[in-house]
Amino acid sequence: MQLQIELEILRASAVASIEQASDLKLLEELRVQFLGRKGQVTEILRGLTQLPAEERPSVGQTANVVKTAIAEALELRKATLEAAVDHAQAEREQVDLSLPGRRRRKGHMHVISQVTEEVLQIMFELGFQIATGPDIETEYYNFDSLNTPADHPARDSHDTFFVKPGVVLRTHTSPVQMRVMERAKPPVAIVAPGRVYRVDLDASHSPMFNQIEGLLVDEGVSFADLKGTIMLFVHRFFSKETQIRFRPHFFPFTEPSAEVDISCTICKGQGCRVCKGSGWSELLGCGMVHPEVFRYAGYDYEKYTGFAFGFGIDRIAMQRHAISSISYLFENDLRFLEQF
Ligand code: PHE
Repeated sequence: MQLQIELEILRASAVASIEQASDLKLLEELRVQFLGRKGQVTEILRGLTQLPAEERPSVGQTANVVKTAIAEALELRKATLEAAVDHAQAEREQVDLSLPGRRRRKGHMHVISQVTEEVLQIMFELGFQIATGPDIETEYYNFDSLNTPADHPARDSHDTFFVKPGVVLRTHTSPVQMRVMERAKPPVAIVAPGRVYRVDLDASHSPMFNQIEGLLVDEGVSFADLKGTIMLFVHRFFSKETQIRFRPHFFPFTEPSAEVDISCTICKGQGCRVCKGSGWSELLGCGMVHPEVFRYAGYDYEKYTGFAFGFGIDRIAMQRHAISSISYLFENDLRFLEQF
């Protein structure tokens, strides 16, 4: 009788804990605990041998019923837990095909690079080839050979970063003129894009900015060729309606020299924030190559003439896109860059 009661109690507590088992691992532990070879039910069944013979059948029967009940409870719980696991996995792996895709963000060329390419393309179509020179330049190429000796007042207008005595960060792309002429005989027609450096910083000046140099040398090149080239470029790059004006200027390496303005492309000459109300925007410096420069290059200055020009790429990019401060170009703010 005693055993029968024990078995009933065991069944009740076993089924209760099985029904509460929260995962499959726990459930397996319970199976071992109750039905395993050393499990509680087995233990009780082993004790059967000590019972009087007449009690054995009924206790054995109860034991089997309890065993079956526990086994069933285990099966049931197992099925429930497995279904839950399946469900959770399905939930995790569910793909909602109606969700919008994740767009990949693609980069693009910086506005300065875009404008540079455009300028070079126009000049390339006019027959100019692309040349380059180093950013770290000797004073010889940056100044002396361009007819700007050490005591020349024009050096003051280029607030120069010195790397060490005799070596500077180039203040303009004009040294490329000399480097090209040293290597090649006329006719020469090159454009040279690159970074230049000056100790300068405000809304329209950055200590590093970009220029494109142009140089054309041949027999019989005149100021009219210079004007025609600039005009053609301006009409192609900006528009046919864009006006140009030449103002006399001074550069040590050109004679005569001029600065060229274009009618402000933003306000069409009416005066606006970008042209600071003048209706004009400074485009470039230019002139006829100074004979002294030809002498440095080893060119026969009786035979050859040429023109040169240099303009700020940042300036024309600002004109083109109505950008009010040059610093935007170099701050790498995506909100700005993504607009181009
Ligand atoms: N190098 C001059 C500057 O940076 C521009 C220039 C180039 C002027 C070529 C004349 C000829 O201001």
